[in-house]
Amino acid sequence: MRLEIPRDCERIGSLQIYGLQKVYELDGGTGPHENDSMVERVPGEVLHDRMREMAIVVPVKNERLKLIEGVLVGIPSSCQVILVSNSPRGPVDRFGLEKEALENFGRFTGKKILVVHQKDPGLAKAFADAGYPHLLDKTGVVRSGKAEGMIVGTLLAKWLGKKYLGFVDSDNYFPGAVQEYVNEYAAGFAMNPGRNTFVRISWHSKPKVMENNLFFAKWGRSSVNSNAMLNRLLTQFSGFETEIVKTGNAGEHALTVDLALQLEYAAGYAVETHHYINLLEHYGGILESTDPEKVREKVTICQIESRNPHMHESKGDDHVEDMIDASLSVIYHSPICPEIVKQEIMENVRTRRGESALEEIAPVRIYPSLSELNLNEFMAGCDESLNFNAVTVRA
Ligand code: GDP
Ligand code: CO
Repeated sequence: MRLEIPRDCERIGSLQIYGLQKVYELDGGTGPHENDSMVERVPGEVLHDRMREMAIVVPVKNERLKLIEGVLVGIPSSCQVILVSNSPRGPVDRFGLEKEALENFGRFTGKKILVVHQKDPGLAKAFADAGYPHLLDKTGVVRSGKAEGMIVGTLLAKWLGKKYLGFVDSDNYFPGAVQEYVNEYAAGFAMNPGRNTFVRISWHSKPKVMENNLFFAKWGRSSVNSNAMLNRLLTQFSGFETEIVKTGNAGEHALTVDLALQLEYAAGYAVETHHYINLLEHYGGILESTDPEKVREKVTICQIESRNPHMHESKGDDHVEDMIDASLSVIYHSPICPEIVKQEIMENVRTRRGESALEEIAPVRIYPSLSELNLNEFMAGCDESLNFNAVTVRA
């Protein structure tokens, strides 16, 4: 892969956010890893070295098997796949069908796939025993939701001894786009070899049909809103206006497992925006209570602009207002958010929602950092009970 070296960088405490990087060649050939002042070439071997240490978490809920299979086709073979499914087990056992399809697929390809159900009782027990009951519902199993599935995937990546962790949705129509994302994750890690690296993808375009023509939209409404507010927040801290953040709600993202285990996860649509906020809270040196050890650790966010168009299953746009509210909510309710940005957020909500706007934007559920969980207990729980309830295909 051949990528632009980022020109801009915003530094807030020990967090550095690099500007959006263009991709110049999806396949930059073999040979040395080299750069000039503008462009870096990360050869295929280096990408695969990173991928061998990478788990790709694929959250699934009721997706068509053909779509899931396409996503797996796109994930390079060096990666370990962790599929976390919350599909129903009755009356039709959709999870059973997924397992069967994946077993077959794993047999053909020799792919490393771990399949686990989000409601697996062994998993729930591992969380309870590890002193992290926050994720469990009244009946004692892991709550539903993509963010909850992501937390499960994060810990399973640790359980499997991986160093890097990437996320890819299971409803992507283009295997080639999935392949590109994973290559970009690997390139991001190769270019930023630190312990705390976060790679976030900004789609180049999203195809839509408008008046019988294809139209390639660049920015969705939710990213426009969350990027704008995150940039406003950064502007408040530095005193200089910035537009550095382009990936405020990038569902396609990857990070080192070490960093993932430090972060809080917000439930619902806010998970990605909250990662920015939580990094600022922990590493920005803004809060007095910030752990001084942490502020000394460097954290890098690298943003890469993908080339393939992004197209996923259309589930209607009804929830776009809720998505925007959820992202803005985590900014609003953060202790680092200054009054002036809070006011702007409420103006934004009132402009979009009119009469139905609440007096104050509702908070969303936030799961505490996984550093609160006893990792050894959790892993022992997985060793004990997961093997019986999950299907491992040549992991
Ligand atoms: P959108 O792309 O943000 O509109 O959201 P989607 O509905 O496409 O969900 C994103 C991904 O999360 C898809 O791959 C879904 O199958 C998956 N997903 C949604 N809900 C859940 C859940 O409760 N658990 C898990 N494990 N995955 C989920
Ligand atoms: Co989707």
